Amino acid sequence: MSEFIVAIDGPAGSGKSSVSKQVANEIGFGYLDTGAAYRALAWAVQNLPEFSLDRLEQVDLDKEFDYQISLDPKSYRVSVGHTDVTAAIRDNAIAESVSKVAKLPFVRSFMKRLTQRLVEQHSAPGVVVEGRDITTVVFPDAQIRLLLTASEEVRLKRRSAELSVATAQSLAKQVSERDKSDLKVVDFMTPAPGVELVDSSELNFEETVAAVRKLIGR
Ligand code: DC
Repeated sequence: MSEFIVAIDGPAGSGKSSVSKQVANEIGFGYLDTGAAYRALAWAVQNLPEFSLDRLEQVDLDKEFDYQISLDPKSYRVSVGHTDVTAAIRDNAIAESVSKVAKLPFVRSFMKRLTQRLVEQHSAPGVVVEGRDITTVVFPDAQIRLLLTASEEVRLKRRSAELSVATAQSLAKQVSERDKSDLKVVDFMTPAPGVELVDSSELNFEETVAAVRKLIGR
């Protein structure tokens, strides 16, 4: 069982996934991307008739949603049943529909149980866990709790660096709308009491990783 939990929250485009993964890699911890489970459930809603949105509340997710994710920061894999959904959950269609699933209270309480169980079962000395409500709802007692932010401008720039202008504009709209929609569920821009703020607006990737490691003390 993992004893040491580093909980990291942050908005879309804050770099929390890549920073968390790199930190986990460097300090020999497991890495858990909790957004992947929300995305995988949104994928199931779109692709598996038994998970249709209007009947989802009647599904016993603990029994029926066969979700697996690797906590090894060097090999990231996500599957539902026998289907590898690692690439599929990054599709635009999923990014657009995931908020609908994430706002459902019964989904959130299922995800809390799922996340706690995945971390508990992992054998590494510690786990870096990232996602919107991780410092406040899922692991309020984690040894280290951080909120990773960056200004909206910087977050959009990072996300659109490799895209065409038209795609970048539609991405800007999507990220800002997703933030607004997610904000109704979880306030991830203001650190909760006891949560340390890491603002990466002025930091590059390596500097952000170093700032996080300094706070963890490893
Ligand atoms: O971090 P991400 O973009 O992969 O997250 C996907 C969606 O899941 C996004 O709408 C936020 C939501 N989410 C959440 O509500 N709580 C979490 N712990 C992780 C993700």
